[in-house]
Amino acid sequence: MRMLITGGCGFIGSAFVRLALDAGHEVVNLDRLTYAGNPANVAEVAADPRYSFVHADIADPGAVAEAIRGCEVVVNFAAESHVDRSILDPGAFIHTDVVGTAVLLAAARQAGVERFLQVSTDEVYGSIETGAFCESDPIDPSSPYSASKAGGDLQVLAAHRTYAQDVVITRGSNTFGPRQYPEKLIPLFVTNALEGRELPVYGDGLQVRDWIHAEDHCTGIWCALIKGTAGAVYNVGGGNEVPNLQITRRILELTGADPGLVRHVTDRPGHDRRYALDTTRLRALGWAPARDFDEALAATVDWYRDHPDWWRPIKSGEYRAYYEAQYGAR
Ligand code: NAD
Ligand code: DAU
Repeated sequence: MRMLITGGCGFIGSAFVRLALDAGHEVVNLDRLTYAGNPANVAEVAADPRYSFVHADIADPGAVAEAIRGCEVVVNFAAESHVDRSILDPGAFIHTDVVGTAVLLAAARQAGVERFLQVSTDEVYGSIETGAFCESDPIDPSSPYSASKAGGDLQVLAAHRTYAQDVVITRGSNTFGPRQYPEKLIPLFVTNALEGRELPVYGDGLQVRDWIHAEDHCTGIWCALIKGTAGAVYNVGGGNEVPNLQITRRILELTGADPGLVRHVTDRPGHDRRYALDTTRLRALGWAPARDFDEALAATVDWYRDHPDWWRPIKSGEYRAYYEAQYGAR
């Protein structure tokens, strides 16, 4: 297959680019290279003759029409992806996650693309006190990020209903692993711990997330892409529900950092208390996550310890201004 993968210079997208090339496919990676897009994430495949890179915005119809030519499938990872940034500035989220998705969908129809896979998130369901969300549950997003992702999902489902476009949506849970931008909980706390900086825990730290390793998330997306039913949604969760404070303590142990670095700070507005996914539908297609959470977390900490060359340059410049805006007054 020739695949258009958008956002392939980001955290999960770059893991998926490697998976697609390893499986013998051709990849066109279209990425705008926002603050979160990092060419280093795909450096090891850059010279592969089956790989090409297009520096463009998914909301740019001309650039997308050109890049999509000859592609059989589109997998859309491109997004503004951080909840806290969406609270500071929702505009970019609406541009990419809603408008960009609609532009990409229309281009895929025009080009006769066989399948469009939208990479979405469990956050579109909102928070759940007990039990787990099924794909048939209503969406009830809490943040500008999750509302934008929900807007993208609705565009995708409407394209199926209106134009009979072949689409599939995956809704993944909290993902971790190497090459994740150090604004999200795990890479932020690991790199702060390695630098001897404070770990800012929001509120009481008893919020629960269901964690999945990036490689397991990618095999789930791959399974839905190849075996999923047109028009269907598939939850992709690791089944590892862990309170934030427990992860924080584990990171302190794994890095050997001082427990006194933990600081409880003002909670995130609209903070979802708990996420949990029922993954029966995707498992029925033969998928299951392969990674043990504790081992994968330890391996992830090792990766950040061994790759300061990857994250130290990121944690300067624009990042410091963001950090001050996000945490300065907390
Ligand atoms: P990321 O922030 O690491 O990477 C996003 C990538 O998209 C970057 O390379 C960026 O340059 C690119 N991009 C942003 N706007 C663009 C635009 N307008 N045009 C082209 N490229 C653009 O994100 P991630 O964590 O790898 O997430 C990838 C996808 O998975 C997103 O759609 C996100 O909503 C979804 N998701 C993420 C998680 C998670 O825990 N990280 C969980 C579930 C779902
Ligand atoms: O659930 C899937 C979603 O997971 C993805 O769609 C998003 O792209 C991804 O960013 C992630 O969203 P979260 O908001 O759950 O992830 P984040 O890493 O920002 O936060 C995880 C938890 O940790 C959450 O309860 C907030 C808390 N937290 C986060 C940060 C950055 C803190 O306590 N302190 C922090 O500094």
